[in-house]
Amino acid sequence: MRLSYSYALEAKALSVFYGDNKAVDEVSYGFKRNKVTAIIGPSGCVKSTLMRAMNRMHDFVPEVKIEGSLWYESEDIYDQRANPVLVRKKIGMVFQKPNPFPKSIAKNIVWGPKINRMSKNYKELIESSLKRAALWDEVKHRLEESALSLSGGQQQRLCIARSIAMDPDIILMDEPCSALDPKSTASIEELILTLREKYTILIVTHNMQQARRISDEVLFMYEGRLVESGDTEQMFENPRIGQTHDYIRGKFG
Ligand SMILES: Nc1ncnc2c1ncn2[C@@H]1O[C@H](COP(=O)(O)OP(=O)(O)OP(=O)(O)O)[C@@H](O)[C@H]1O
Ligand SMILES: [Mg+2]
Repeated sequence: MRLSYSYALEAKALSVFYGDNKAVDEVSYGFKRNKVTAIIGPSGCVKSTLMRAMNRMHDFVPEVKIEGSLWYESEDIYDQRANPVLVRKKIGMVFQKPNPFPKSIAKNIVWGPKINRMSKNYKELIESSLKRAALWDEVKHRLEESALSLSGGQQQRLCIARSIAMDPDIILMDEPCSALDPKSTASIEELILTLREKYTILIVTHNMQQARRISDEVLFMYEGRLVESGDTEQMFENPRIGQTHDYIRGKFG
């Protein structure tokens, strides 16, 4: 039990193993509330593996083992007593490729709250979630149409709206713009900056300009370890470690 907590989420010596292979190597970091934290690093440095550990997504993969702790509010989410369903409700996730359900726009929003029996005014929930995800004006007259009829950028905003409908505190985003064109990317970036007022956001990105535009803090990962972290401006302007400098300047990865 942790009596006081100043971070939205805090990893303490968090390691993730695939079988005997230690992929994430003792990462410790406090993710600040109502901030956007970007996780950067070359392909294969374990960004997605780390992010999936943040809401117990690895539970579904038998060969994965987790060590260390991950504190959300007063609880280590890997404690035996923690409820993984509740963890995933409060720590939502948006993936690289938009993955709406092949159902109507409206059903995409209410599906999670209904199976979790969150007693709600569903009409109001649909409107408020879509508004928060900056999608309402584009879809309000076609809520019963298939989500698959939306553009990629709209589908990604729908996936963000779907996670918002669960009333999360934290939203994890793993390269949410990598399948989108520049215009849709710009609308998601703008959205992320408004979401920060209410949610804590962790985003994995390969796009250095994007990290710089939207994040408050940056974590640079390399070969499973957290190499350097800090304020975004400082990380880009004046990183302490040569590896960070070289990666940010595009010298590798
Ligand atoms: N289910 C799995 N079983 C075994 N190894 C895995 C599994 N998933 C990922 N890995 C390995 O873990 C390492 C990190 O993968 P991960 O997907 O976390 O990297 P990443 O930093 O997100 O890369 P990218 O930028 O390409 O998305 C890789 O070497 C990968 O092969
Ligand atoms: Mg990845």
